[in-house]
Amino acid sequence: MSNPRFAIAILAAGKGTRLKSRLPKVLHQIAGRPLLEHVIRAASQIVDPSDIFCIIGHEAARVRQAMSPLGVQFVEQIEQRGTGHALMQCRQALAAYDHVLVLSGDVPLIRPETIAQVRDFHIQRAADMTILTAEPPNPFGYGRMVRRVVNGVESDEVEAIVEQKQLTPAQQNIGEINSGIYAFQVAELFSRIDRLGTSNPHGEYYLTEIAAILQKEGRKVLALRASDSNEVLGINTRRELALLDSLLRRRKTEELMDAGVTIYQPETVIIDAGVTVGADTVIEPFVQLLGETSIGEDCLVRSYSVLSNVKLGDRVRVNHGTMGESAVVGDAAILGPYARLREGSEIGPEAHVGNFVEIKKARLGRGAKANHLTYIGDAEIGAGSNIGAGTITCNYDGVNKHKTIIGERAFIGSDTTLVAPVTIGDGAYVGAASCITKDVPNDSLGVTRAEQVVREGWAIKKRERLLAAKKAKEQK
Ligand code: UD1
Ligand code: MG
Repeated sequence: MSNPRFAIAILAAGKGTRLKSRLPKVLHQIAGRPLLEHVIRAASQIVDPSDIFCIIGHEAARVRQAMSPLGVQFVEQIEQRGTGHALMQCRQALAAYDHVLVLSGDVPLIRPETIAQVRDFHIQRAADMTILTAEPPNPFGYGRMVRRVVNGVESDEVEAIVEQKQLTPAQQNIGEINSGIYAFQVAELFSRIDRLGTSNPHGEYYLTEIAAILQKEGRKVLALRASDSNEVLGINTRRELALLDSLLRRRKTEELMDAGVTIYQPETVIIDAGVTVGADTVIEPFVQLLGETSIGEDCLVRSYSVLSNVKLGDRVRVNHGTMGESAVVGDAAILGPYARLREGSEIGPEAHVGNFVEIKKARLGRGAKANHLTYIGDAEIGAGSNIGAGTITCNYDGVNKHKTIIGERAFIGSDTTLVAPVTIGDGAYVGAASCITKDVPNDSLGVTRAEQVVREGWAIKKRERLLAAKKAKEQK
């Protein structure tokens, strides 16, 4: 038999009323990514993105736009009339497949390994419907599993799924819940889906009712327990959003530690799902690593640093309180304390960017140094150049931005203002406190300050004059 064709459908059309938000539920973020993106990424490990169908409805255009870079397909559910109704919209899209795995856009902690487990169990047992279940500490609000009892023993066959509001008093005690994650044989599902009704407390088409319909016809409906009930927690409220955010971030720090990263007091560190960190890197408490930040091996990121979409090479030292955004940093560079790298900063290997130095859209060559109190914007600085304390590139004339180019091994004296566009050549010097408006050629000196005058004894006379004037005033 050829391999069965699997699709994945993700339910993501609902509004998320309980979040009280203008943003659709599945676009709310945990660990730096929208809920739906977590689910799509897990699903993409199991099938090709072109075999993933997101069912969208509430704010469909917005959800589609946010998720389209992931290469998935979309099916619209114009009116949201329940989870069963959502799948009815997929009849055509799924016609070409043998099986469909159904995931929920609001159950974001699901791991690819677990999706694969559902798929394999479903195939091996030749089930018509497989339901992933769990036993969370608090089952309230979830649909509950009613298993068939055979010879006094619970089997893995399912009789029905009963939603919270329809539980009989005896069923209130059932601790096993429906995760909302299923596998179906496509033909068996769609030959019965039109039989779903709306006679339930919400007047919706419940996908969960298909379990009883199949079972009554003698089809095979099986339950598979998830080993980790956290993985199938759903998000309906802001409290659950915060809880799942911390669970996911804990999973992330644990994965990094297992891969050889040292993280002190990991509960204080905020690391987004998209971050990568190399082995032997040390991350101190209260660090934030956000977006698609990637950090090489053997780096040190000291407390209170916040890096967002920053790429660090190996052996980089990031001292306390450094802020970085969309910047690239070469091997063995040293940043901070209190450095600020803005978008488009490229810091070469072994370069130093010290305290209270702000860099924007600028490149520092290998070993270049800007150690204190400096603004470098729209600039290129060659290898080995030294930028003195308090140097400012005047890149903005009130209308346009202009570039400052500094060659290799140049020495810019402290408190220099470089009025762009301007070029300083290789090996050139600029005298401290100069205001440079014209180019300085290679190996030359540019200096604009007035020559120093020394008048010996001048201060004594000055003080005498001031004191005499003060006395005269007091005697008046
Ligand atoms: C559902 C299950 C419940 C299960 C729980 C697990 C049903 C009837 N109940 O309940 O047994 O324990 O999930 O989390 O299925 N959606 C649509 N279109 C709709 C309605 C919902 O796409 O018309 C989507 C939502 O966006 C959401 C998912 O389906 O991603 C689940 O819907 P939700 O309303 O959250 O169902 P629950 O009440 O959580
Ligand atoms: Mg839900």
